[in-house]
Amino acid sequence: MKIAMFSSEVNPLAKSGGLADVAYSLSKELVNMGNEVIVVMPLYKSMWKKEKTYKFEDFDDFEVSLSWRKTHAKIYKTVIDGITYYMIANGPYFERDNLYSYPDDNERFAFYQLASVQLLKNLNYKADIIHVHDHQASFIPVLIKEKEQDNPLFAKTKFVLTIHNPAFRGEFDKFYLNDYYGLPDYLYDNGTVRFNGMVSTLKSAIVYCDKITTVSPTHRDELLDPSSEFHLNGVLELRKDDFIGVVNGIDVKEWDSRKDPKLAMNYGITNLEEGKHKNQEALLKQMGLKFYGGPVYGLVSRLSWQKGIGLVAESMRNALRNGANLVVLGSGEYELEQQMEALRREFPDTCGIYIGYSDDLAHKIYAGCDFFLMPSLFEPCGISQMVSQRYGTLPIVRYTGGLRDTVNGYTGDNVDVADGIGFNDYNAMGMDYAIGMSKSLYGNQKDFYKVARTAMRLDRSWAQSAKKYEDLYISAFTK
Ligand code: GLC
Repeated sequence: MKIAMFSSEVNPLAKSGGLADVAYSLSKELVNMGNEVIVVMPLYKSMWKKEKTYKFEDFDDFEVSLSWRKTHAKIYKTVIDGITYYMIANGPYFERDNLYSYPDDNERFAFYQLASVQLLKNLNYKADIIHVHDHQASFIPVLIKEKEQDNPLFAKTKFVLTIHNPAFRGEFDKFYLNDYYGLPDYLYDNGTVRFNGMVSTLKSAIVYCDKITTVSPTHRDELLDPSSEFHLNGVLELRKDDFIGVVNGIDVKEWDSRKDPKLAMNYGITNLEEGKHKNQEALLKQMGLKFYGGPVYGLVSRLSWQKGIGLVAESMRNALRNGANLVVLGSGEYELEQQMEALRREFPDTCGIYIGYSDDLAHKIYAGCDFFLMPSLFEPCGISQMVSQRYGTLPIVRYTGGLRDTVNGYTGDNVDVADGIGFNDYNAMGMDYAIGMSKSLYGNQKDFYKVARTAMRLDRSWAQSAKKYEDLYISAFTK
């Protein structure tokens, strides 16, 4: 099959979260399975430093109009792991320090999507599948179905949407439907692209795509639930038969504790105890922390309201008072950063915080901690919990979305099958329960390592998930 992927971030070129991991790993696996995959993404300022490694080829150059605004797209091309990447450059829109969170994001991604469609036409690319990810790419199916109905290039193409983060729905005033995209008002008036008094690109893709996915079966159910805080349940209910949940995999080559060059000591299932101790010692030393009996808890995350950081601040005090360590890596919302800083000030000997991002430290935390905190408010899939399991570090998760589908929590009497710890209620009591469980499991080291080994054995490779996407693509042609 010929598959064209559209995502606003894709590894190894640009990443702010799990979306980049998935867009890349899924594409790579589909290529390994014998498909042809192209990826189309914006060219952000931060990507230029990768130019030396990946050799961007100067490929194409054309005008793009957002109704009366005439602007310009320059296309660069590179091939990584058999995937062909097309990167869309435009100085004013993308030569900026960050990927998102600018007041003109709607205009920036309108440009990206309009340029993407033009690029497919210039390439004369007859895709079997156009697969769009999240709201930044969600209007591409609308543009093609509304403006290219008579274009034979797209006559047989099927469209697939994957929802990674429904908290962002690409909402804008109906004025811009015409002003950016040149689309007629009646698409709003008759409800097709309307959502809550605005246009929503994500909602529109749910209407226009042949198949819809989200990144875990539980999150699919959550999105369909009438009480869902994302309010997409109404439109998804109509598309229920074409909507599935597929759990993400992880890159098991990148995340391999036996070979990871960033670790103080490489280890596997057979020498887990020694590996854990050596890596823990090195981590605590690097962070300048003292050990008073453990356990050592870790957290690597965007510091965002979605991730339950407030619960960590509330619940970890007790554990820290009782001899535990906490190592945090992340950055994000100012208030949450401040809450973490306050913890460090209170427990300077045992709590280490690194505000920012360091790939190196992330690997060391996955290997050197006993438990990994992920008490998310919502989590469509989550990737870190699977990485920590692979490294024999037990995730402590709130049972939501993919966290429920990937963690079987220790309850005191299921040591043979548990592979982490989980709790239900999003409040301090829920979290305290889980921390209590972690302490009792840690108190019995034999059981702790048994559970850790079960976690390490879980198959998290992309092969199974990519096969599900391939089956879904095929099913789009037979409906
Ligand atoms: C989003 C979701 C996260 C998911 C990732 C990749 O970041 O919040 O749960 O793992 O996308 O699908």
